[in-house]
Amino acid sequence: MPPFNPSATRSQVTGSQVQGAGGDRLTIDCLLAATTAEAQEDGADVVMGLTTQPKSLPPKYFYDDLGSDLFEQITALPEYYLTRTETAILQAYAAEIAGLVGPCELLELGSGSSTKTRYLLNAFRQAGYSLRYIPVDVSGGMLEATAQQLLIEYPSLVVHGVVGTYDAALSHPLPTSPYPRLIAFIGSTLGNLAPVECQTLLAQISATLQPGDYFLLGVDLEKDPTVLELAYNDSQGVTAAFNLNMLSHLNWRFHGNFQLHQFQHRAVYNPAASQVEIYIDSLQAQTVTLQRLNLVVNFAQDEPLLSEISRKFKLSTLSEELKAVNLPVIKVFTDKNAWFGLLLCQKA
Ligand code: TRP
Repeated sequence: MPPFNPSATRSQVTGSQVQGAGGDRLTIDCLLAATTAEAQEDGADVVMGLTTQPKSLPPKYFYDDLGSDLFEQITALPEYYLTRTETAILQAYAAEIAGLVGPCELLELGSGSSTKTRYLLNAFRQAGYSLRYIPVDVSGGMLEATAQQLLIEYPSLVVHGVVGTYDAALSHPLPTSPYPRLIAFIGSTLGNLAPVECQTLLAQISATLQPGDYFLLGVDLEKDPTVLELAYNDSQGVTAAFNLNMLSHLNWRFHGNFQLHQFQHRAVYNPAASQVEIYIDSLQAQTVTLQRLNLVVNFAQDEPLLSEISRKFKLSTLSEELKAVNLPVIKVFTDKNAWFGLLLCQKA
């Protein structure tokens, strides 16, 4: 088994448990594939996406270490209002959320740099609640660096990171806690799932929670399409770089030969489906090989490849869906324009 190597540009770590410089305050479980056989199994979703018409790719492949860094840059772009707006909501209401939830253990899906999470951590600390934090992310490098930093900033915080997909992490056994669990899923990542997958994940989250446990969900809401399209077509081209980096990640992970300059980023709002659709268009007819997946793919000129959807929600519909999976909303927090919603739910 390879050692956990957080400094690798693209970390690929597996099954290992690390107790880092944080001593017994830090544990990291790595659930990602490392052998070719595991990678092939891992890449079944890539094969499926590239051999089905129209072509698509699963968004989790955005988040290698470079992708995670580029995403951090997206969150600071002037056009990308989402992070700023959600941050303002958290800033305003974290204390109220901590008061409602009480002492708990916080499991965060897609934790990234945990920047927004710090508002919650601060509020729990201020309330005098001890806290175990379980960040879950597919980017091992980002997770490890963030965890080390959090141990310094929060001297009594215990961190148990899980490097892996949501699926793997939610079924991964964790030490039991005397406190209720709060699962946080913010950043409108839920919107990156198709409606059916979204329902499946919500049901899965609900199934891992005990009655009385909490779920905090951050989602982007429907609004003027011009605002939406600008958020995914920034003038500095960071979003384009982030989108195309997925191909470079696949080149590395599955020994592929995508030529990045022969593809182009495109994002467009589809009002019928209430979603921004993010594409990688093939600029010419070309053939790409992914050796590790025994896959040869042909692209026609101008053929689109769907790399992401970002759904925009209506609070009433989403609340119904949450209720249907036994996660009724107990309080909705939003900004003055109602651009973004933060929903606190409690398992019934
Ligand atoms: N959850 C983010 C969103 O839907 C992810 C994201 C932001 C994204 N910008 C992107 C995904 C650009 C693909 C391309 O807003």
